[in-house]
Amino acid sequence: MQENGKQSKGRIAVVTGATAGIGRAVALSLAAQGAAVVVNGRRADRLQALVEEINAQGRSAPLPGPLPEGEGGRAFAVAGDAADQPIIDAMLDGAVSAFGAEADLVIVNAGRGLGGSVLTSDMAQWEAMYEINVMGAARMLRSAGQRLAPQCAESDPVAKPRDIVVIGSNVGKHISPFSSLYGSSKFAAGALAEATRRELGPKGVRVTLIAPGIVLSEFQEVAGYTDELVEGFKQKFAPLLTPEDIARLVSFVVSQPAGVHACDIVIRPTRQDYP
Ligand SMILES: NC(=O)c1ccc[n+]([C@@H]2O[C@H](COP(=O)([O-])OP(=O)(O)OC[C@H]3O[C@@H](n4cnc5c(N)ncnc54)[C@H](OP(=O)(O)O)[C@@H]3O)[C@@H](O)[C@H]2O)c1
Repeated sequence: MQENGKQSKGRIAVVTGATAGIGRAVALSLAAQGAAVVVNGRRADRLQALVEEINAQGRSAPLPGPLPEGEGGRAFAVAGDAADQPIIDAMLDGAVSAFGAEADLVIVNAGRGLGGSVLTSDMAQWEAMYEINVMGAARMLRSAGQRLAPQCAESDPVAKPRDIVVIGSNVGKHISPFSSLYGSSKFAAGALAEATRRELGPKGVRVTLIAPGIVLSEFQEVAGYTDELVEGFKQKFAPLLTPEDIARLVSFVVSQPAGVHACDIVIRPTRQDYP
């Protein structure tokens, strides 16, 4: 890792689900470390505000355009549903049109939770959750893999780091009766990440699964958790993780030398005893 805090300098990243929480923190931290970032989310106003926030940080050359040597981060927005293939294509094409080269770092983060068990969770939300958490992740893994693998030279596949990072979940490793459908979708996302790691690792692309425990974000509200439940988590496990904790881990993983892969990582609040 470079010591000047610019360990992502020159990298071109795509971050799905960057209008809130983990995705937003990852996009900001990669940009602060010198990466150019394509950011995505469905709420276009929030996305635009994020782009302006990133582009206001020390940009000297006009946009769009290649990242000048030593330049700080810059961002380009692709608003829309990260499960839709045309939006996925627009993100990956956007890296080329806005920054002059293919993305070499893709964060598959967009997703949502759903409280409740197989018996009690809201069936009306099952398919929409699976569509983004599983099908969206699968489509992005496929598209990103098709673009990252050819970047690796056969003579030296790990000459430069190329990364896909999938944000899974603790409950995608240890199923819980309290978020059963969600957990099952994250089991699938984790399996897709591992299968893709085995396919692309030998070609030189790192595919990393990060499986967080409880991160305080908009996730709990979207998943329909009651205030009581969230308060209970805080009382039992505080301090809970923050999106910035996950961003720091992402930066650690992707700034390892290209031949070193920390590939399957669980991160929890220290006091979280479940699952
Ligand atoms: N928070 C936790 O405790 C926790 C734990 C383990 C894993 N995770 C995982 O971490 C990831 C991020 O969650 P978070 O905690 O940051 O939640 P969050 O604060 O609710 O943020 C979710 C982000 O994903 C975006 N998003 C959701 N559906 C989308 C779609 N169909 N297309 C594009 N963007 C979409 C949202 O933006 P828009 O609404 O603007 O589209 C938002 O930017 C998720 O995959 C989640 O499952 C979270």
